[in-house]
Amino acid sequence: GRSLVGRDFISLKHFRADDIKQFLWTAKDLKTRMKDNGEIFQPLKGKTAALIFQKRSTRTRMSTELGMAKLGGHAAFMGPEDVHLGASQESFCSKLFSLFNIFARVLSGMADIVLARVYGQDFLDELANEASIPVISGLSDLLHPLQILADFMTLQEHFGYLRGLKIAWIGDGNNILHSLMYGCAKLGVDLNVATPAGYEPDPNITEDALKIAGKTGANFLMGSDPVQAVYRADAIVTDTWVSMGQEEEKKKRIKDFAGYQINRKMLKEAGGNWVFLHCLPRKQEEVTDDIFYSEESLVWQEAENRMWTVMAVMLHLLQPYTPINPMPKF
Ligand code: CP
Ligand code: NVA
Repeated sequence: GRSLVGRDFISLKHFRADDIKQFLWTAKDLKTRMKDNGEIFQPLKGKTAALIFQKRSTRTRMSTELGMAKLGGHAAFMGPEDVHLGASQESFCSKLFSLFNIFARVLSGMADIVLARVYGQDFLDELANEASIPVISGLSDLLHPLQILADFMTLQEHFGYLRGLKIAWIGDGNNILHSLMYGCAKLGVDLNVATPAGYEPDPNITEDALKIAGKTGANFLMGSDPVQAVYRADAIVTDTWVSMGQEEEKKKRIKDFAGYQINRKMLKEAGGNWVFLHCLPRKQEEVTDDIFYSEESLVWQEAENRMWTVMAVMLHLLQPYTPINPMPKF
């Protein structure tokens, strides 16, 4: 594959299918080398990552800190309390914006790479514009590209391929769905979407993704009927109905999402061997326990794969890498 050194990782939109496959191949290669074969592999010895988080996190923070350590590097974390990034109010916006500008310049001097979790995608754009080091998105209100690498890695491990699989997304038209749409469009994975009225994905992203899907042959079905969406699906995917920053809308959202809970009855028409994915954190409303904790649920493998995939991203943005294990089928 082509070199990805020095690139930013803030949307899958900016990557070719081959680039995405390269990240996934490397993630699987690192997992095989370091987990299955117990190899100690420290290509990032002496390298540092700055993590700046405007919102809370379990998986993104842990996977990055632990993954960086495994590769021989070091990550340093700053949360909202540390850097006054917690404020999400509109009035703080311009002040925050200049804060990100300053961060970009300061961190460029100290760290080799920066991963940021933010409210507005424009903060990531600002970081990427001003920083001379690669910037990785750890989630924004709009996108969560790292999550989709982990989801694809998990589906590839389970099914042995990706192209031609059919994914059903039942739930909110949120950041995870947006990145899933880009990912599926690029890799030729079919996607059925069912979102309640008023919770459709961003129209610009939808238009964009449909255009890409038209070229790669990915079939997209955008609608609001969960039963239609799960028909013959290989993977059922959802997320919380109340994302970070939407806590005040909780009551209304739970009401508006009635009928979108993933349960056995809804999945009657799914494919014979469907699996379930959820990026976590999970709330009871969106999926029943008998699915979340079932054999068909790959959520723990999916969470683990957050680490191998972010390791692959950090590695490729920092230096060239060629996997030693054969490329999986995508
Ligand atoms: N899936 C995910 O990004 O989880 P965290 O919010 O815990 O990082
Ligand atoms: N949509 C969720 C994803 C959490 C990983 C949120 O933005 O809070």
